[in-house]
Order: sequence, then C-alpha cells, then structure tokens
Amino acid sequence: MCIYWFEQSESDVPFGDEWLSGSERARLDTLRVPKRRADWRLGRWTAKCGVAGYLHLPGDPEALAAVEVRPAISGAPEIFLHGEPAPVALSLSHSRGTGLCTIAPASAEVGCDLEAIEPRSPAFRSDYFTSEELDLIERTPPSDRDRMVTLLWSAKESTLKALRCGLRSDTRAVNASPQDFLQAPDEEWHRLCAGHIGGRTFDGWWRDSDGLIRTVVFLLNACGPAARQCSESPRTH
Ligand SMILES: CC(C)(COP(=O)(O)OP(=O)(O)OC[C@H]1O[C@@H](n2cnc3c(N)ncnc32)[C@H](O)[C@@H]1OP(=O)(O)O)[C@@H](O)C(=O)NCCC(=O)NCCS
Repeated sequence: MCIYWFEQSESDVPFGDEWLSGSERARLDTLRVPKRRADWRLGRWTAKCGVAGYLHLPGDPEALAAVEVRPAISGAPEIFLHGEPAPVALSLSHSRGTGLCTIAPASAEVGCDLEAIEPRSPAFRSDYFTSEELDLIERTPPSDRDRMVTLLWSAKESTLKALRCGLRSDTRAVNASPQDFLQAPDEEWHRLCAGHIGGRTFDGWWRDSDGLIRTVVFLLNACGPAARQCSESPRTH
C-alpha cells in the first residue's frame, strides 16, 4: 500500500468550469473573493486530477466532473465518485499558486500541507509550539530558523488535517520531529514523525522546493504488515 502525492500550479487549471460538478459550480458561485475562488479551483483541480490518476480514471472534463470533493462538516475533504463515496482518503493544501494533494486507501488517515518559508514572530513560536519543538528551533542555526519553524508548523497542520480537526485543535497537541533538516534543499522527500497528545504517532515526509515546504503525514489503519512497508517515500503518478 502506498501514499501518493500530486501537485498542480494555477497555470494548469483550465479557464472553464466544465470539470466541476453541478454542486461544485454552485459552491464556486458563492465564493466572491478572487483569491479564495482561485485557491478553491486550484485545490479542486489538483484533487480531481490526483484521484483520477490514482483510480486510473479518464482525465477528460466529464470524467473529472464525476469526481466530487465534498467538505465534511469539519471542512475535511471527502471524495465521491458518481455520487458514491470513493475508496480513497485525501488531504488538500494550496499556497502561492501551488496545489498539493495526498491520496491513500480509505482505511488510512492522511494529511498534507504546503507552507511558504517566511519569518514568524517569537510570540507565534511560544504560542503554538511544544517545548521540544522550541528546543529544536533554539538548536537550529539562526540562518535556518525560519525554515525550521515553517517545517514544524506545516507538519502540525498536516497532522491536524489527518485528525480532521484542523486548527480548531491546540497546535501544541502535536509534537513534530523532522529528520535530515540541516541538509540543503534538494527536492528529495525526508522523513518526519508527529506524535499526538492522544498517544498516536503519525509517520510522514517533508520536502523543500521553490521556497515552499511540503509535509505529508499518515497512519495506516486496519492494515496488515504489508501496509507498513509503505514507509518508502510517497509516490507521485
Ligand atoms: C484546515 C486548516 C488547517 C487549513 O489551513 P490553511 O493553511 O489555511 O489552508 P490549506 O491550503 O493548507 O488547506 C486548506 C484545505 O484544508 C482542508 N480542510 C479544511 N478543514 C479541514 C479539516 N478540519 N480537516 C482536514 N482538512 C481540512 C480543505 O480541503 C481546505 O481546502 P478547501 O477549503 O479549498 O477545500 C485551517 O483552515 C482550519 O483549521 N480551519 C478550520 C478552523 C478554522 O477555521 N479556524 C480559524 C483559523 S485559526
């Protein structure tokens, strides 16, 4: 069993809306702010193309319109195919004109996040990070601290998305620890893990490219030993 990731940029999104379902077009009509509309369309496009690739479906507009991304009450995306729940778990993120989705079998819990590397204040750190994470930031060379803070924040968001609560939860409920951090950005995926205060530990990956940090976390539930072998880096298709 594998975790897949898929990225698209704003320029990949078609001008027209034929690839959206009727209810998705109705939802788009309610979004008035141009940036939110663009982000929403980019997220839907990325998710639909990712699911179509994962399930080996055609990629024409009609086929993509049959793949619906519906928000649960929590806001977490759920995938429907011809109106029926599809056998996939999906997480979605969009930032700075890039969309990222992560796809896994429905039995998995997955979360992903894209975050631009930028400075964040000391107050932000002390409000949102655990003492272990603050230690890690303190031990990071100053020139790399914004990158570390962004990575830890992204890993927390991914984990809280996998748990389907998002930022309604206290971000200190998640303790993130990335590996290989001091390596220069190299487009490769590196491991991380994220422990939740409830006792569960998510495996994950992170990658730094074009000033954007990507994180992916997952828990493979109800799977036998074969599923654990999925801890190779996430695949794209
Ligand atoms: C989910 C959340 C962490 C997203 O963070 P973000 O950095 O703003 O946005 P991202 O692009 O990374 O992710 C957005 C996607 O997360 C997904 N998402 C939203 N709520 C989610 C949840 N509870 N669980 C999992 N995924 C969720 C959606 O697919 C959303 O994209 P869409 O709205 O276009 O469908 C954040 O918006 C959140 O927690 N929202 C709910 C609570 C809230 O509104 N708090 C006020 C802000 S503190």
